[in-house]
Amino acid sequence: RIAGPCGLVIFGVTGDLSRKKLMPAIYDLANRGLLPPGFALVGFARREWADQDFEQVVYEAVKKHARTPFRQEVWDRLAEGCRFVQGSFDDDVAFDNLVETINDLDRVRGTGGNHAFYLSIPPGAFPAVCRQLARSGLSAQTPDQWRRVVIEKPFGHDLSSARELNKVVNEVFPEESVFRIDHYLGKETVQNILALRFANQLFEPIWNSNYVDHVQITMAEDIGLGGRAGYYDGIGAARDVIQNHLLQLLALTAMEEPVSFEPAALRAEKVKVLSATRPAQPLDETTARGQYAGGWQGGQKVPGLVEEAGFAPDSTTETFAAVELEVNTRRWAGVPFYLRTGKRLGRRVTEIAVVFKRAPHLPFDSTATEELGENALVIRVQPDEGITLRFGSKVPGTAMQIRDVTMDFGYGHAFTESSPEAYERLLLDVLLGEPSLFPMNDEVELSWKILDPVLKHWAAKGSPEEYKSGTWGPPSADAMMARSGRHWRRP
Ligand code: BG6
Repeated sequence: RIAGPCGLVIFGVTGDLSRKKLMPAIYDLANRGLLPPGFALVGFARREWADQDFEQVVYEAVKKHARTPFRQEVWDRLAEGCRFVQGSFDDDVAFDNLVETINDLDRVRGTGGNHAFYLSIPPGAFPAVCRQLARSGLSAQTPDQWRRVVIEKPFGHDLSSARELNKVVNEVFPEESVFRIDHYLGKETVQNILALRFANQLFEPIWNSNYVDHVQITMAEDIGLGGRAGYYDGIGAARDVIQNHLLQLLALTAMEEPVSFEPAALRAEKVKVLSATRPAQPLDETTARGQYAGGWQGGQKVPGLVEEAGFAPDSTTETFAAVELEVNTRRWAGVPFYLRTGKRLGRRVTEIAVVFKRAPHLPFDSTATEELGENALVIRVQPDEGITLRFGSKVPGTAMQIRDVTMDFGYGHAFTESSPEAYERLLLDVLLGEPSLFPMNDEVELSWKILDPVLKHWAAKGSPEEYKSGTWGPPSADAMMARSGRHWRRP
């Protein structure tokens, strides 16, 4: 589907996200013919730029980060619709200028009075911008002119701050005009979880506590936090990733079948399963957190977190977090969901592993099954996108010996179509007014409700445990699994 006449205003347009993700995604959408010809891109920031300076920044971002080939005519058309408005968030005059710019674009570009406002700014600045959008009349919609707001995470830092933010935003924009970005939902492999589960007969009958032993959701990164102190110090891995990306993955893995793929039906199921989710107790035994120390990675010596520029030397920010959650529904009673994430781990990988119980009876000599592990279905979110099924198979030879083998589906082999970048998909959905892939206020608040007790527990404990860069996290993470005789996968 192609977006109708519209424009996008980005607040915080001088930031990293704009340059690396948003501007290239806009160009890629234009290049694929999914934006209207008169699309307009407006940047708003304090920087003293003219329209040409902004256009140059967009050009460089596109040249560097776009995924589709550069085509001069696509760029020229997009560049004609680039405008810059200079000012700060408390500056009435700047917002009045924005109104003028938008009115002008409606006239000369044909944006039709339809505009999305992208808040790529710290949450502390949301109230000021929302107030200004209301005061200047920019948030006001009519039946044939839509106004939408797009919000980047972090959406608060706990339940009460998230509620406060939701209140501020919903005072100005009705919930159906609010698009909260969780870029994991824009990933092809994440959307495929629902196709795998609900388009097939094969998996859903065993997708429950009768057959599943536990679920492991891992988002591991090898990068450190150099250059991100301003955002990350005091925030940490649980707020940065578990509250949003990993709990969304859990929701998609554990939810019931929606009555349809209408946004409301889909979100209702996510809300239901998140309402049934809570941390397992006692938290001392069911959670782990760590902070990376220096070490070696990819043949290079890397610094510890507290040696990275901008982090306090006594920072207690965790860069690794793991939690065991229970999903208290008939389907999942007694099946632990283990979530973990970390920076500077062994490698970059995100996966959901559904680990099955052992067969109730093995009619073999015990030596035959020494190399038989648990059956597992692994959804490889990234990199190397695909799905793996692990099961036992007879080793060729005269004796009965069973060993684990895998059956693989890889996107690269199975499809000639390429996956759009997550931000491309999500930006297009904003412009189309398609809300399915955006967490609504209840989901955000429920996710904080799940995490809050863990965060409080950790805050009372002081410093996180250290782990060496390039390893798989602190020993307490392994201990947390070992207590129930389980172990983390080494993807
Ligand atoms: C962001 C987090 O939401 O996701 C980052 O703030 C993290 O800390 C990033 O690095 C990872 O995204 P992806 O798409 O590279 O897995």
